[in-house]
Amino acid sequence: MTVITKTAEDIEKMRVAGRLAAEVLDMIGPYVVPGVSTGELDRICHDYIVNQQQAIPAPLNYNGFPKSICTSVNQVVCHGIPSDKKILKSGDIINIDVTVIKDRFHGDTSKMFTVGEGASHTDRLIKVTQECLYLGIDLVKPGVQLGDIGYVIQQHAAKYYYSIVREYCGHGIGTVFHEEPQVLHYGQPGKGLVLQEGMTFTIEPMLNAGKRQVKLNRRDGWTVETKDGRPSAQWEHTLAVTASGVEVLTARDEESF
Ligand code: MF3
Ligand code: CO
Ligand code: CO
Repeated sequence: MTVITKTAEDIEKMRVAGRLAAEVLDMIGPYVVPGVSTGELDRICHDYIVNQQQAIPAPLNYNGFPKSICTSVNQVVCHGIPSDKKILKSGDIINIDVTVIKDRFHGDTSKMFTVGEGASHTDRLIKVTQECLYLGIDLVKPGVQLGDIGYVIQQHAAKYYYSIVREYCGHGIGTVFHEEPQVLHYGQPGKGLVLQEGMTFTIEPMLNAGKRQVKLNRRDGWTVETKDGRPSAQWEHTLAVTASGVEVLTARDEESF
């Protein structure tokens, strides 16, 4: 396994890409309302990234992905394809996952939105999933192992009887969208890669309200859904390991790390 550590110059570029990705999520929030289609959300993000940010939406044509963002609604776990036919209604929950490329470097981040009025059970799933991400981020510093991070995420989810998706994980990121290491959202303390200053990777836990099993939609080759049809939530940040801890490259203004 080869983990590419980044130079200070590389990380400055990732800071820029990360900020742009975060700004897309801030920008799109007010549009996530009952009656909008996920296709429309995709167009708004695409135009903003290309025209305002002068950046590249990384998902577009990535391994054949047809759109510029991922929109994963309710029981969709990840990689939902935006569509003009998918109209959001009050009570839906949606993950919007944005990855931009600026000056060759990637910034990758996602968050959950509730459309209109949310149900208490989806509010709780969303909140606990965000807490899992934050607990993982809080651990990041040189010397900590990836198994330590996976373990705290898994333990926190288990406390609420939620399950963790195992088929998809966080990843190293830089000039390559998905590179080593794989960042599992479950694991054992004291196991796995030892973090070093200059490593950049994502943490992006997917929690299911029901069972952990997922199915891939064979018609479109992308959409991942829960097998039991119950809802799923995900939050993602791109991180850099610093000398003393962590820098959240995709932090939004509302967040304090
Ligand atoms: N942004 C996703 C991730 O967090 C990857 C999306 S790949 C795509 O890694 F092709 F579906 F866009
Ligand atoms: Co990612
Ligand atoms: Co992502």
